[in-house]
Amino acid sequence: MRLLLALSAALLPSIVSSFPNTPFKTSSQWVHDSTGENFTYVGVNWPGAGEVMIPEGLQYQSIQSIVSKIKSLNMNVVRLTFAIEMIDDIKDRGGDVTLQKAFQKGLGSNGDKVFQSVIKNNPQFTASTTRLQVYDAIAAELAKQQIYVHLDNHMSKGKWCCGGNDGNTWFGDTDFNVNNWKRGLQYMADHSKKWPNMISIGLRNEYRKPDKAGSSLAYNWQVWYEQNKAAADIVNAANPNILVFLSGLDYDTKLTPIPNADDLGGGKKFRLSDFSYKDKLVLELHNYQNSAKACGDIEGGLWNNGFRATGDKAVNRMPVVLTEFGFTQADKSYNGVYATCLRKLMPQWKSGWTVWVISGSYYIRSGTQDFEENWGLLNHQWSDWRNKDAIAALKGMVDETLKAVNR
Ligand SMILES: *[C@@H]1O[C@H](CO)[C@@H](O)[C@H](O)[C@H]1NC(C)=O
Repeated sequence: MRLLLALSAALLPSIVSSFPNTPFKTSSQWVHDSTGENFTYVGVNWPGAGEVMIPEGLQYQSIQSIVSKIKSLNMNVVRLTFAIEMIDDIKDRGGDVTLQKAFQKGLGSNGDKVFQSVIKNNPQFTASTTRLQVYDAIAAELAKQQIYVHLDNHMSKGKWCCGGNDGNTWFGDTDFNVNNWKRGLQYMADHSKKWPNMISIGLRNEYRKPDKAGSSLAYNWQVWYEQNKAAADIVNAANPNILVFLSGLDYDTKLTPIPNADDLGGGKKFRLSDFSYKDKLVLELHNYQNSAKACGDIEGGLWNNGFRATGDKAVNRMPVVLTEFGFTQADKSYNGVYATCLRKLMPQWKSGWTVWVISGSYYIRSGTQDFEENWGLLNHQWSDWRNKDAIAALKGMVDETLKAVNR
């Protein structure tokens, strides 16, 4: 009996292999765990970069119940967003802010009431728990349920993203201090070393051209390269184990010159071989072509703007993850051209994705408190799915994507 067990264990490594099998690395267009198995990102965005700078939903549900919802879809990763302002507070303004103060600051006179709901649902927290300790608790619960963490620097200033005049568009914009950004990334890369399920970090969400020229650096690929290379070096030095995600221009819809090492301007080219940690680099794109009339329009654009890095003709052959896409859950959009198309393309391209968004409402968004999120997979109280048919379709996308790359 014992011999048989040992034998079957040897024959079925994937069944007995243990979580988390980190660190991950890339090999050509694949992401591999530490045992050499393929890993494909299939997950969801969990926002934490709003004014309160605490991951959303905790005034309605426990962390455990939210993570269980994600787990029930068989997802394997959460793209957990944060704002650099949180680290600025830690470094420059006397340390991390407590939950109570964070809600007071973010929500004004409603802050205490919402804070009370948060600790009622999550009694492990108290008035002196800090924001970063909430991130720690979320990472721990995700680990417990065998889900990975991908951190995403969503904004510098904590607030809803993204617009051309929100001060967070591009390096040097009003609220996009480049040094603070690099310091914040370094801090989170280092801090997250203690999370066993931490696998990767996105350097910045959705670069975009500022509406008005101001203090920003020039909006071009050369600056993109210089800044991202410098930040990636810092992150890799702080935590050499995690993958580093590079996002593109125009709201992360374009990484066009990267796959084939085209001229970025001034003769500069992106070459994987210029990175000593080239097996840690991943590209990420977003897509919100929700009104597309034909899948071919989405497919051609996505491929030409970056997914071709996964193809066998790419000079820089790398994994590409669709880290944001999404649509309203309030109607039958899940059956429309856009949703159906991405549901087909990701398994076809054997590429990972994280959908926007595990939410039902936000603490505050664009000035409105308890903001209803129709694109959220959950209802307003985060207690159940918003649209069961849409969720069934999403679960199908999870299954098909995993099937495409796992033996
Ligand atoms: C990863 O998936 C691809 C596509 O299915 C497959 O060709 C490759 O052999 C897989 N690699 C491993 C290590 O399983």
